[in-house]
Amino acid sequence: MKAVILAGGEGTRLRPLTLTVPKALVPVVNQPFLEHVLTYLRRHGVDQAVLTVSYLADRLKEHFGAGGNHGLSLVYSVEEQPRGTAGAVRAVAGLLDGAFLVLNGDLFTDIDLTGLVAFHRQKGAAATIALIRVDDPTTFGMVETDGQGRVLRFVEKPRREQVTTHYVNGGIYVLEPEALALVPESMHYMFESGLFPRLLAEGWPVYGYATEPFWHDIGTPERYLQLHAELLGGRCPSIWPGAPSDPTRGCYADPTAVVEGQVLLGLGAVLGPESRVLGPAVLGAGCRLERGAVVDGGVLWSGVSVGAGAHLERCLVGSGCRLGPGVVAEAAVIGNNVAVPEGGRLARGAKLPVVAQT
Ligand code: GDD
Ligand code: MG
Repeated sequence: MKAVILAGGEGTRLRPLTLTVPKALVPVVNQPFLEHVLTYLRRHGVDQAVLTVSYLADRLKEHFGAGGNHGLSLVYSVEEQPRGTAGAVRAVAGLLDGAFLVLNGDLFTDIDLTGLVAFHRQKGAAATIALIRVDDPTTFGMVETDGQGRVLRFVEKPRREQVTTHYVNGGIYVLEPEALALVPESMHYMFESGLFPRLLAEGWPVYGYATEPFWHDIGTPERYLQLHAELLGGRCPSIWPGAPSDPTRGCYADPTAVVEGQVLLGLGAVLGPESRVLGPAVLGAGCRLERGAVVDGGVLWSGVSVGAGAHLERCLVGSGCRLGPGVVAEAAVIGNNVAVPEGGRLARGAKLPVVAQT
C-alpha cells in the first residue's frame, strides 16, 4: 500500500527551532520525528511513501534519501507554492494506484492503520477518516457520524456553539482514486474545507473510524514537551519502549550527579559533579552539564552545553547551544547554535533568537 505524507508546513509554532530544521527532522526521543513515522508505516505494510514538501526540502532529501534504511521507498514531491492538503495529494495522483493512505505530517500516533484500511474496505467507503476523541474540538476538524460510522458532517475548526461531538479528524485518511479525482487540478484545495464537505454534499460514502489510540501532534512547544513526557512514561510501547531503567549507560555521569524520574540521555552525554537531570527530560547526544547545572524537565537536542550552576526548567534547546554559567530559563525555546552569556536570565517562555509572532 502507498501513503502520502503531508509535510508542506513551515512549523511556524515551533520557531525558532524550525527556522533551520524541518518539522520532520525535529528529534523525538533523540530520533528524527519522521523516522518514527516511517517505521510505523512500514509495520502496517506501507511499501512506498510520497513525501509532499516545500520548506527545507533539501534537508529532508539529504537525511532520508530513497528511504531504504526504513524498508520502504520514499518519493518526494516538492511544491513551489503550497497546494493545500488535497491539492498536494492531487499533484501526485500519477504515483498512486488503488486505495491509499494520507497522513498529516505532524502526528505521532499508533492508530491501527491495518484496522483502518480493513474498515474502509468493509464499508465500501470512498474515504475513511481516522477519528480521535478530544475535549475541545474547536482547534480540529469536527466529524459527526451516525451509528454505523457514516460521516454526516465535517466542520473544520468549529466555533464553540457549533460543537455537537467530541470526535475529530485524526489527520489520517484512506482514499479511493475516484474521491481524489474530484480535487481540482492545479489549484490550492483542502481536504478539510473542500473535498470532505463536497463528498458529503454529493452523497459519497464517507466513514469515520473511531478508536482510542495514542495520538499527539508536535505542533507547539507545549505539545512537543507533552509528547516526550508520555513517551518517556512508556505510554506508546508499540512505537517506543519508554525511558530506560538506567539512563546513564553510554554516558559519563560523575558519581555525585543526580538523575531522577524518567530521563533519556543521548550517547556520550556528560553529567558533571553535582549536576542534576530531573525527568521528564531528554538530553541529546553529546550534551554536557557542568558542575551543579540543573535540567528540570525539557528537551535538549544534541551537543548542548550547560554551564556551571545554570538552571533550565521545561526548556526546549536546539542543537549546539551554549548556555553560560548561571543562566536561568523557564519554558524557553532556544534555536540551534545560540549562545547565552554567563548569568543570563531569560524571561519565562522566552524565544531566542526572538521570532515574529504568528
Ligand atoms: N504538502 C502540503 N501542502 N502540506 C500541507 C499544506 C500544503 O499546502 N498545508 C498543510 N499541510 C500539511 C501540514 O504540514 C501538516 O502536516 C498537515 O498538512 C495539516 O496541516 P496543519 O496546519 O497542521 O493543520 P491543523 O493541525 O490546524 O489541522 C489539521 O489537522 C488536525 C489534526 O491534527 C486538520 O486536518 C484538522 O481537520 C485535524 O483535526
Ligand atoms: Mg497540525
